[in-house]
Order: sequence, then C-alpha cells, then structure tokens
Amino acid sequence: MTIDLTNRVAIVTGAGGGLGRQHALALAKRGAKVVVNDLGGNLDGTGRSLRAADEVVREIREAGGEAIANGASVTDLAEVEAMVAEATERWGSVDILVANAGILRDKTFAKMEIDDFRAVLEVHVMGSVHCAKAVWAGMRERSYGRIVFTSSSSGLFGSFGQANYSAAKMALVGLMNTLALEGARYNIKVNCLAPTAGTRMLEGLLPADHIAALDPALVSPAVLALVAEDAPTKTVLCAGAGTFESAKTILTKGIHFGAGEDLPEKVLGALDRLSDTDGFLDPKEGAGQYTHELAMAGFGPEQG
Ligand SMILES: NC(=O)c1ccc[n+]([C@@H]2O[C@H](COP(=O)([O-])OP(=O)(O)OC[C@H]3O[C@@H](n4cnc5c(N)ncnc54)[C@H](O)[C@@H]3O)[C@@H](O)[C@H]2O)c1
Repeated sequence: MTIDLTNRVAIVTGAGGGLGRQHALALAKRGAKVVVNDLGGNLDGTGRSLRAADEVVREIREAGGEAIANGASVTDLAEVEAMVAEATERWGSVDILVANAGILRDKTFAKMEIDDFRAVLEVHVMGSVHCAKAVWAGMRERSYGRIVFTSSSSGLFGSFGQANYSAAKMALVGLMNTLALEGARYNIKVNCLAPTAGTRMLEGLLPADHIAALDPALVSPAVLALVAEDAPTKTVLCAGAGTFESAKTILTKGIHFGAGEDLPEKVLGALDRLSDTDGFLDPKEGAGQYTHELAMAGFGPEQG
C-alpha cells in the first residue's frame, strides 16, 4: 500500500525551515501540490521574510514538483483565508493541512510575562484554529480532508520553563479530539504529531551527535501516514530519530465509593489504587467518562 498524494493539495505552515520544510518536501515527493507557508521570522516570532519559503519552493520545483510560497502569518485569519483562497483558485481544493508553524518564548513561569504566554498561544493554538477553520468548509463540501496539528512532548508530559508552550501544545490535542468527531461523517481525519527533531528549536539543548540523529526528515514519514487515504483519526503520533510511538489519554477503571462525608480522605488514600491502569478504558469521546461513572454507580451498561 503506497501512499500516493497525486492531485492532492497541501498547505504546510511554517515550512520555510526545520520540520515544516521536510514535511513540504515529503508531501511533494508523493505527488501533492504544496503551499509552502512561512512568516520567515525569528524563533520568538519576531521579524518577517519570504526568502526561506521561496527557497523550499525552488527545491520542490527542481525535483519536478509543484509548489507556491506564501508569507501569511497564521495569527492573522484574513491572511490565512487569503492563502486558502489562493490555493483553491489555483488547484481546486485544499485536501491536506499540516499546521506546523510555531515559536518559543521559554522562561520559568515566575519570570514569564503574560505577553510571552499570549504570543505562544496565539501562534500555536489560534494559528492552528485559523488554518483549520479556513479549510474546514471546503473539506466538508468535498467530503475529504486530512489535518495534522503539531503537538509536543512538552504539552503531553510537561517541560520545565515551557508553561506557555506546554499549554498551547496540549490545547491542540483537545482541538483534535473534537474536530475528529465533528469531521468523521465528512471523511475529515484529524490527528496530532508530536515530533522530536534537531532543528533550531533544540539548538544548544543537546549534544551534536544527538541533534544529528534527530534528523527532521525522519519525522515527516509520520506526517505522510497521518494524511494518507486510509489515515487514522484522533491519533497522537510521536516521531523522532526513526522511532514512532503513540501517546494516549486513557481513563483508569477507578473505584466507586458512592457518597459520604469521608469521601475526600477516602479518595486521597486510594489515589494509587484508583490510578492503576489495569483494565483502563480508552473512551471514544468525552461522554465515555460519565457513562463509565454512571455504570460504576449501577446505572446500566457502559456505552464506551
Ligand atoms: N524540534 C522539535 O524537537 C519539536 C518538538 C516538538 C514540537 N515541535 C513543533 O514542530 C513545529 C516545527 O518546529 P521546528 O522545530 O521545525 O522549528 P522552526 O523554528 O524551524 O520552525 C517553525 C517555523 O514556523 C514559522 N512560523 C513562526 N511563526 C509563524 C507564523 N505566525 N506564521 C507562519 N509561520 C510561522 C517560523 O518562521 C519557522 O520557519 C513547531 O510547531 C514546534 O513547536 C518541534
């Protein structure tokens, strides 16, 4: 089963360098027509230039592919809508969105300015929302869509000095969870990627041989899997240095205590036991939690 993206139109945000560049090259290599979007700014989101995106477009065209550069900031809904309109006018549709653009403003929470928190949420969360919103109606009309949000281990598991970034990256998992449900009947599949790659984001944090092993080109195959015809949906796929994992939010079976004045003490005393993952549940949607709780309380069978 070869993943063939011929005639598919893809937008990759933040594709002027790092992971986005590799995703754009990989999508084009499989036949997709690619909008290479990048604001061309610094790591903290300041500055602007189309040079990097133009260079990636040149690479794709030289390899025989089709691509256009776009300098929209994902934080600007009007610019994002214009980008989607341009791609749709030129190629007829947008079938694939890889929301990859991102910035960092790392500091411990004690030292973090609220503006640094907002700026990071604005790019990662609202940037992804703007892009998804701009392609959503067209994907519904055509009953076809593949959306990948870029999450991170920092959000999934925490990372010292990255409160803003962690909050933003976990928000994307929530966005995915609900868009996957709402998109299901329109054949819109929505997933998250949690990459590790030796890009400028990791510069200075790891030794040179580790950075080299974390080649961003080894992450893009996960993106191809998430945008394939038979892609999964509502999956958080992790990728780095040639290893691929999946991160899941599960629900432990828990313990039913019923009511009582001593519930707070009982709960605190039983935290280890009620957190035991033996026999865990994997709810298909949020309602899975309360149907489980009601079933534990004796209200009929669980609906999953
Ligand atoms: N490198 C890693 O190990 C790692 C780990 C987890 C998640 N990520 C995520 O992967 C994505 C790519 O990161 P990277 O490591 O390639 O870093 P990078 O800095 O090379 O790439 C990010 C790109 O996004 C662009 N960008 C920033 N703000 C933008 C905006 N408003 N509009 C359009 N483009 C904008 C930048 O110009 C840059 O080219 C990010 O979302 C990042 O948070 C990276």
